[in-house]
Amino acid sequence: MAQKVAKELGVILGKAEIIRFADTESRVWVEEDIQDKIVFVLQPFSPPVDENLVEFLLLIDALKRLRPKKMIAIVPYYGYGRQDKVFRKGEALSAQVVADLIEAAGFEKLITIHLHSLRILKYFKIPVVHLSTASICSQVFSSLKNENKDWVAVAPDEVAQKEVKKFAQPLGITTAYIEKKRDYTKKDKHRSIKVTGQIKGKNCVMFDDLSSTGGTIVHGAKLLKEKGAKKIIAALSHLVVGEAAEKIVAEKTISQLIITDTISYPGQKPTKLKIISVAPLLAEAIKSNINQ
Ligand code: R5P
Repeated sequence: MAQKVAKELGVILGKAEIIRFADTESRVWVEEDIQDKIVFVLQPFSPPVDENLVEFLLLIDALKRLRPKKMIAIVPYYGYGRQDKVFRKGEALSAQVVADLIEAAGFEKLITIHLHSLRILKYFKIPVVHLSTASICSQVFSSLKNENKDWVAVAPDEVAQKEVKKFAQPLGITTAYIEKKRDYTKKDKHRSIKVTGQIKGKNCVMFDDLSSTGGTIVHGAKLLKEKGAKKIIAALSHLVVGEAAEKIVAEKTISQLIITDTISYPGQKPTKLKIISVAPLLAEAIKSNINQ
């Protein structure tokens, strides 16, 4: 991703050596003269999440010691975002812990894409540039089919509604949402229980921030079909784990899956899968934040 963004900007990617010792600890060495320069550090917090997070923190420490003018973090996928509040007494507030780590590391600003919820923004004291993929996803979706008129944009859960409205707006299509119930005593367990909005006899495009098990999208698609939807397409900003794509692609009710490359897709790309690059979006954000 960093290479793609550097190419978009016509700049060279800074060199850093990252090695792992036998005990899996990493050692980071920055091989660039960055004194008095503005440095952008790009790292998605994708699996292995904890390793990537620590690597990112070590990289920042190495950079800071070389005395840059300022450092801006680019986190295309903000991991730990789902634990954005204390759902049950005794739980850690993971989204805030990660925000604190980014701030304490010495960044002046964070650029990120499609956070799980806007609540995360309030955990930061530094400015956060929060980019949406709704526009690029809806453009690509629009190019995949003939007309918009029979389509409805569906939020696979309540939290997704705001971005789904942004997705639907340029297409001039209506929206609907699915009520999802999560079982907090089990990991990754939830049920899609009710559709609110007119989807009977319509084609549906579901748009969500992320998928990690594929469950939300697959259960959502099954429910939409049960309620009389015709064709179903799914679009996601972040595909966190490759198996989720396999599961969604294998689901017969879903004809196409659109994702972005905030997290690189492992292995062979199935034909049902369309990947959009966010590199131009990030390059634009870098250009407009370089002197601010
Ligand atoms: C959670 O509320 C998110 O917006 C996603 O809907 C969810 O995390 C997707 O996860 P999975 O693919 O495991 O259902």
